[in-house]
Amino acid sequence: DEMTPEERAFQDRIDRGERIEPKDWMPEGYRKTLIRQIGQHAHSEVVGQLPEGNWITRAPTLERKQILLAKVQDEAGHGLYLYSAAETLGVSRDELTGMLLAGKMKYSSIFNYPTLTWADIGAVGWLVDGAAIMNQVPLQRTSYGPYARAMVRICKEESFHQRQGYSIMMTMARGTPDQKAMAQDALNRFWYPSLMMFGPSDADSVHSAQSMAWKIKINTNDELRQKFVDQTVPQARFLGLEIPDPGLAWNEEKGGHDFSQPDWSEFYEVLKGNGPCNAERMEARIEAWEDGAWVREGLMAHAEKRAAAHAA
Ligand code: 3HC
Repeated sequence: DEMTPEERAFQDRIDRGERIEPKDWMPEGYRKTLIRQIGQHAHSEVVGQLPEGNWITRAPTLERKQILLAKVQDEAGHGLYLYSAAETLGVSRDELTGMLLAGKMKYSSIFNYPTLTWADIGAVGWLVDGAAIMNQVPLQRTSYGPYARAMVRICKEESFHQRQGYSIMMTMARGTPDQKAMAQDALNRFWYPSLMMFGPSDADSVHSAQSMAWKIKINTNDELRQKFVDQTVPQARFLGLEIPDPGLAWNEEKGGHDFSQPDWSEFYEVLKGNGPCNAERMEARIEAWEDGAWVREGLMAHAEKRAAAHAA
């Protein structure tokens, strides 16, 4: 369908690499796609605190506890930057949270998998934050200003998250045979779910074409997944751990690894709410929302009193 003159002018701005700011004219579809993506990105940060927070009280040393606390606190801040970026598009944090809790908006599939051992916290930092960085670094150049700027700050903190995860994996891989086995088990369980974080294959991605045209998405799902595999294979080798994929092999003419795809039927089951932890995550978020109601009401009452006093 033909573009209107406004849509044509907008696309020309995108093609020239211009940043779109909140007060600029934008097609309704551009706004909707950004609310969807930024909102779900923010939800991922908030729900992502649950599997990680699960080990704060059981970290093996005080130092690991402090590091994990700092990381989980960072994730809450990432959620805040992203909800604030979404608010510039005319949707409030409460509305987005309401849609999450009603099952109308998604968060990253990866957070529906359990963190069963301490090594999982290492695998989450190394692989999940590693995949998140792979996806977020290009988003620093996304066409929507508030989103791109949020990404710059988030990427800085994310690299600390990945390093602390890899440090845990290093300690365990060089520890006792039991510790190394625990690290290998964590890699076995987090490898394919981490590949799923990049989204379905390009052939099955419903939003990629339009998101690439609007420079909301800078690289395709498969491109980033390939980069992630090529970066992670030598890191696993350095740890002396096996990536659980018999199909993994260096392909000289491709200049990258061939690797087995995740089980996409499992991916769509998790998206439908049938993953190992979906119900538990929703219950935890709903409980947090209800338990926090008195704080929100108190703050609103206080703000209204203050406003009334000023008006008088
Ligand atoms: N988990 C949940 N849903 C997913 C998904 C995943 N891993 N991958 C894709 N989907 C959903 C999409 O949201 C879309 O559904 P929707 O229309 O209801 O939103 C559908 O599957 C089709 O996928 P597409 O590839 O067509 O969708 P996108 O173009 O939106 O691409 C994406 C998916 C690559 C995840 C993109 O949305 C994106 O880059 N989002 C921003 C990054 C993000 O959300 N990262 C989460 C990582 S976790 C994190 O950041 C926390 C870290 O600090 C630990």
